Amino acid sequence: MIIIKIQDYSEMSRKAAQIIAAQVKAKPDSVLGLATGSTPVGTYQELIRYYEEDGLSFHKVTTVNLDEYYGLAPSHEQSYHRFMQETLFDHIDILPENTNIPDGLASDPYSYGKEYDKLIVSLGGIDLQLLGIGSNGHIAFNEPGRFFSAQTRLVDLNQHTIEDNARFFGSKDEVPHQAITMGMKSILGAKRILILASGAGKAKAVKDMVEGQIAPMVPASILQLHSDVTLIADQPALSLLS
Ligand code: GLP
Repeated sequence: MIIIKIQDYSEMSRKAAQIIAAQVKAKPDSVLGLATGSTPVGTYQELIRYYEEDGLSFHKVTTVNLDEYYGLAPSHEQSYHRFMQETLFDHIDILPENTNIPDGLASDPYSYGKEYDKLIVSLGGIDLQLLGIGSNGHIAFNEPGRFFSAQTRLVDLNQHTIEDNARFFGSKDEVPHQAITMGMKSILGAKRILILASGAGKAKAVKDMVEGQIAPMVPASILQLHSDVTLIADQPALSLLS
């Protein structure tokens, strides 16, 4: 794992966008794996700047998102569909038909998850996967548990994640208790992985991911098995590393 230490959130966002922009310039029809949450917002703003000021085109890019709350329609204010639309897709020249986000209303999530993984394979896999990390060490919505799960599937969110994400909703009670998340097989199948972490709240998760045992109680620790992972993090997020 390559660790790039940066000053703060702005520098993290600029650096991450630079890496993603370089990927798209080198391969205009790249398949980008995208993340939600507060961490990548600045990166998306920088990518919009690349589009507006530097002529970077996303016209041939395909995107595949990591997850969606189960039960939320795409139009719901807190759906990841809406997040992606408002934070990135509405502001660049990506074709709507080339964007993919798990369907939070899928009536048969088991079959749907299988289809989502097949779709990623049919696209030739993910060229660059952007990730954040939950303060409990989760990636996408792969929560700490007894085993790593390969497949895209319906999961129960743990209490810690519900509390962390309550800040986006009116109250904790409004946070969905389930989500459809990309599984570890598709994430680890990405050719390159870029993971971002900012702030002291991520320090323990970052330490466990980088230095801990590869264990399902720290889902992000599985990234130690991937040969091309870059972590961009600020000092508070790296503060517990030995
Ligand atoms: C969310 C998402 C993850 C994200 C993580 C961290 O629940 N499912 O993809 O990386 O939790 O979120 P944030 O960036 O807001 O700290």
